[in-house]
Amino acid sequence: MTNAAHSSSPAANPIPMRVGMTAPEAFPAAEMAEAAGRAILDIGKNFAFYPGDLGHPGLREVLARREADREGVDVDPDEVALTNGSMQAVTLVGRVLMEQPGDIVITEETTYSGTLGAYRGLGYRLVGVPTDEQGMDIGELRRTLGSLAADGRKPRFIYTLPTYHNPTGAVMPRERRLEMIEAAREFEVLLVEDNCYADVHYDDAPQPPQSLYSLAAGEGVVYIGSLSKILGAGVRIGYFLARQPLQQRFLDRRFDAGQSTLSSSIVAELLRGRLPAQIERNNAALLPKRDALLAALQGELGGICTWRKPAGAMFLWVGLPDEVDREALFALSERRGLDYGHGAAYHASGDDVPFLRLAYACPSVDRIRDGVALLAGCLRELAPHRF
Ligand SMILES: Cc1ncc(COP(=O)(O)O)c(C=O)c1O
Repeated sequence: MTNAAHSSSPAANPIPMRVGMTAPEAFPAAEMAEAAGRAILDIGKNFAFYPGDLGHPGLREVLARREADREGVDVDPDEVALTNGSMQAVTLVGRVLMEQPGDIVITEETTYSGTLGAYRGLGYRLVGVPTDEQGMDIGELRRTLGSLAADGRKPRFIYTLPTYHNPTGAVMPRERRLEMIEAAREFEVLLVEDNCYADVHYDDAPQPPQSLYSLAAGEGVVYIGSLSKILGAGVRIGYFLARQPLQQRFLDRRFDAGQSTLSSSIVAELLRGRLPAQIERNNAALLPKRDALLAALQGELGGICTWRKPAGAMFLWVGLPDEVDREALFALSERRGLDYGHGAAYHASGDDVPFLRLAYACPSVDRIRDGVALLAGCLRELAPHRF
């Protein structure tokens, strides 16, 4: 940290570009209120019962349809288990698959900071595999698996984000997905696919390939999904898909008595038959924000920083000039009122990589422009010779 980092308190109302979420204005509050009235009366005295390990059947049907429609495969609602946000699925999988602290999980070299924190917290050792613009490098994955095997070590699982990778936005092509499945099978390692951004898609890009789970017909893959990125993170509904007997291994170790019937029955009532419309509404709200961010970056930082236009999800992974002091930049931006994701938070080993993540769902277009101008001002101070 520089001295500047400690010289004043953070701005009171920072421009919120840290968290990957939905566009707040796309939340269907009135529709949700109406759905709540109907759903609660419909369940009535049955709220007296526990929901069971899989959770509300109506919502599981809606989610099975969501997956089946996108993936073009049949999905049995009984493959779907509801969780309290997808983070509960991420942590449940980690807890169940761990044999002892120090066990290894393989991830992309950079990945979702929440997962890194959860798995570190459980006691896993995280091994990051290099990526390129098409996601995890399968040659590197094989080398990593091979050298671990040579040491007599087998990772508990591979946690991966092949579609709209967080934070890079990479989409893994179909061929590479098949290679990944093959490598995992050869080394007998389970794949845990986090697909929570699957439906946050922009129409100016091709649709992503099928999920690993679909391509592998569920064999050797646990699949994690969420409503946080298409409806709202505050709703706290996620889910996982797994085939038997794997699913039962996870259910046997969930001790929370199931996911809330109150929230799942309301959301089922809200989304039944209108989930595609909700996805459309959210994506339509995100598109002008993405484009405003791209234009502002080009105008302020073109030729100085790097980024790629994302085909889905709601953030940009921005490459910084190597010599910029990342701690100083983060502290200065925070003090001046911009909240973004610090690159090191997304690195499997916590390395101070020359990147930052800008999430664009929450702020208005004007605030996005202000945020980029603020960031550019900070960079101008820290790397004046670049401008
Ligand atoms: C890749 C990934 N997985 C899981 C989550 C957690 O989402 P949820 O709100 O469903 O717990 C996030 C949230 O940002 C994420 O980016």
